[in-house]
Amino acid sequence: MNYRVIIPAAGQGKRMGLGYNKLFLPLGGRALIAHTLDVFLQDSSCETVILSTNEEERELFLSLSLKGDRSKITFVNGGVERQHSVANGLSSIDAKEDTLVLVHDGARPFITREVIAKVVQKANDNGAAIVGVPVKDTIKRIQSSVVQETIDRSSLWQIQTPQAFRLSILHEAHQWARVNNYLGTDEASLVEKISYPVSIVEGSYDNIKLTTKEDIYFGEAILQAKSQEEKQ
Ligand code: CTP
Ligand code: MG
Repeated sequence: MNYRVIIPAAGQGKRMGLGYNKLFLPLGGRALIAHTLDVFLQDSSCETVILSTNEEERELFLSLSLKGDRSKITFVNGGVERQHSVANGLSSIDAKEDTLVLVHDGARPFITREVIAKVVQKANDNGAAIVGVPVKDTIKRIQSSVVQETIDRSSLWQIQTPQAFRLSILHEAHQWARVNNYLGTDEASLVEKISYPVSIVEGSYDNIKLTTKEDIYFGEAILQAKSQEEKQ
């Protein structure tokens, strides 16, 4: 099943505190975003990678060292919030097309083709599917530094990307968000607003989003473990 992917890459990486866009952080000698892009560029089911970037960083993205076929990349301009960067990518696809669209954070370089295939399959069957993992920690609700309650963990999942949708559903959800001035932290939250059921597939705990400084050494460790696995 073929798909297109929108990769929002127009953030500033403020929480990482590097003083530059964290997507250019070197990981194993190559920029973080190059690792993310290569997974999709090397996936034969991926027709197009729509990369949402800050215009002034376009040259940097064009000069990335990539292993996959860079001709699959089309650029769009990013927006103020992640959701706007995704919306710009979405409006570059002909709304009449019957296609599956994935959205994947540029800052998640450890996604695998296996997990992509799982979420694509589920979205093809059900219209909307996302990747997540069951919560491992005990979660409590806190107010003014005092515990209010312990939340039953058995129904809680941490949500990652990719998130996959039939194009018409993602369009309708983004349109709803625009009209209602709603800003979500992921695409599924918009789809939930139009009451379309979103399915979940289990991903992997190493599909982390590099967000704060300590994620850098987790990232290096995951990369090392993966390259070790490849050698075996
Ligand atoms: N992103 C984007 N456009 C924005 C904000 C974020 O395309 N206006 C992208 C980021 O580049 C990243 C993904 O959305 O690939 C997930 O966002 P996040 O991890 O929050 O990255 P940043 O916004 O760059 O980081 P921060 O929030 O710490 O500034
Ligand atoms: Mg952000």
